[in-house]
Amino acid sequence: MPTTLTFLGHGAFQIRTGGKSILIDPFLTGNPLAAVSAEEIDADFIIVSHGHGDHVGDTVAIAKRTNARVIANYEIATWLSNQGVQNTHGMNTGGSHRLDGFTVKLTLAHHSSMLPDGSYGGCANGVLLKTSDGVIYHACDTALFSDMKLIGDEGLDIAILPIGDNYTMGPEDSLKAVEFLHPKVVIPGHYNTFPVIRQDANAWAAEVHRQGRSTPVVLNPGESHTLR
Ligand code: NI
Ligand code: MN
Repeated sequence: MPTTLTFLGHGAFQIRTGGKSILIDPFLTGNPLAAVSAEEIDADFIIVSHGHGDHVGDTVAIAKRTNARVIANYEIATWLSNQGVQNTHGMNTGGSHRLDGFTVKLTLAHHSSMLPDGSYGGCANGVLLKTSDGVIYHACDTALFSDMKLIGDEGLDIAILPIGDNYTMGPEDSLKAVEFLHPKVVIPGHYNTFPVIRQDANAWAAEVHRQGRSTPVVLNPGESHTLR
């Protein structure tokens, strides 16, 4: 089975690789664009990029139901343990860890990270996944930053970039991010969920196409993209 990536709405994605289901930022309950419910999704791993409610989302409930291993920065992993999540793995920015058939690296992100109850959530992260079929970078919530060039040096097959603006970079800055990251494919996220982050993804895709540095792929919630 090839590695597939499914957009679940907002910043939430499911990656299936090597027979495993990896969720990133599973915000489903309360997400008006959610493609699937927290009660029905399967997970072997959950990666949480930062502490905000629209990213921690349903992590606690899904982890308790599936016993998925939850990967996050040390502060969030500790907080999740205190919420009764048994299977956590704490990391920190710049660190890589080999898991079951893939490697996860927590990258820099320029964003904040307070947890839903006001607890300190450490530094916000992006996520770099190295699978047997290719390298996926989910920038998660972040501003544009020039060190994205270093992430681009990893050789990206797919980059997921926020385009919603207001809380993260917007469409214009994401075009600069494409220049820094030069991924083969770029997928937009973190837009249209709420009125303040409404964007025209097709107009954005036309600009990416015109720029000629990457192939834009706009996924509706529930749609998937297959690596290779
Ligand atoms: Ni956030
Ligand atoms: Mn967010």
